[in-house]
Amino acid sequence: MDKNFLNDFPILHSRMNGHPIAYLDNSATTQKPESVVRSICGYYGGCNANPHRGVYELSVRATKVYEDTRRKVAKFLNAKSAREIIFTKNATESLNLVAYSYGLNNLHAGDEILITIAEHHSNLVVWQRVAQATGAKLNYIYLDADGNLSQADIDKKLTPRTKILAVTQISNVLGLVNDIKKLSAQAHEVGAIIVVDGAQSVPHIPVDVQDLDADFLAFSGHKMLSPMGIGVLYGKKKLLEEMPPFLSGGDMIEYVEEQTATYAELPQKFEAGTQNVGGAAGLSAAIDYLQNVGFKTIERIEKDLTSFAIAELKKIPYVELYGCDAANKVGIVTFNIKDVHPHDVATILDSEGVAIRAGHHCAQPLMKYLGQNSTCRASFYFYNTRRDVERLIEAVQKVRGIMRLA
Ligand code: ALA
Repeated sequence: MDKNFLNDFPILHSRMNGHPIAYLDNSATTQKPESVVRSICGYYGGCNANPHRGVYELSVRATKVYEDTRRKVAKFLNAKSAREIIFTKNATESLNLVAYSYGLNNLHAGDEILITIAEHHSNLVVWQRVAQATGAKLNYIYLDADGNLSQADIDKKLTPRTKILAVTQISNVLGLVNDIKKLSAQAHEVGAIIVVDGAQSVPHIPVDVQDLDADFLAFSGHKMLSPMGIGVLYGKKKLLEEMPPFLSGGDMIEYVEEQTATYAELPQKFEAGTQNVGGAAGLSAAIDYLQNVGFKTIERIEKDLTSFAIAELKKIPYVELYGCDAANKVGIVTFNIKDVHPHDVATILDSEGVAIRAGHHCAQPLMKYLGQNSTCRASFYFYNTRRDVERLIEAVQKVRGIMRLA
């Protein structure tokens, strides 16, 4: 019997439109347990100062919170060294760092960047810009009938011309898990590096960057119980050392002359300006909480909720599901209700206390590929229950009646 996680999340005991909340928008952001909120308050109440800069004790305490979190993240991802962990604002900023600092400096006309049609805009638009600036070509891996990456496409398009393979580990729209270890081996075989968008994977499955042999991996804290505004870029030390800084300013330098500057060692070279230490305190408590729950439990609960939701939605004749027949699927169910716009569906569900996301999910090329303008998306986390899924189904069953289509 699982612990009742809801007791740790006060917000989930509040109401939405007069109903208990069924929060099913966890791919957008997750709720925060009390221990994370306490950790942030504890930082601001007892340790707040500018890290790395002061010699006084408060600043030393702030530096310790920040650097201890870096070491914890390195262990969490099984990175070889804490120097390979760069704190950013979120996964988007991490991917921008790689694109601008590595991509712009290593790509030339004739080179190719390979991404998938299932990328979030944060791992897509940034590569369009790098391609435009360098003259490199941007290629896409499309999907097979199940929604998985087409192996034929990978074999055809991953060639010695490919310099960067940028791919999400789990699609934020379809919830399909890509085999990063295999992709990484194939990319390295042709001399490409692999950039992994871990925004939807790191919160839900164990991620070991050495086992995956990822060159870079990005994730956001807020999708894994932490506050917004703290994210991580993991990068192999050798690659990070060869890259120029991304942002410039305080703390990323070694010595500054009037016309030139030399840069700090890793990781400070990539952390210009005052950093989000309160966010790091929250991330540290979030990692503790997740490790306490355990990824086996998280995966088991999410798989149960996902298959229950799919089975129940499949019984409703006017519901169309996307990417729901694949086995390698985690925590996300995407659907439409015939003749009803997803925004109307989400608004009706909201009136029943059920929170889902509707729209293009920051993945417009994927929507176009699926032949849709937008979809509804329910996304689960370990604190959700079967009752939340039942509430989703009950609300979905009311939609066509409310729209006078039944
Ligand atoms: N990337 C987040 C989502 O998929 C915002 O909803």
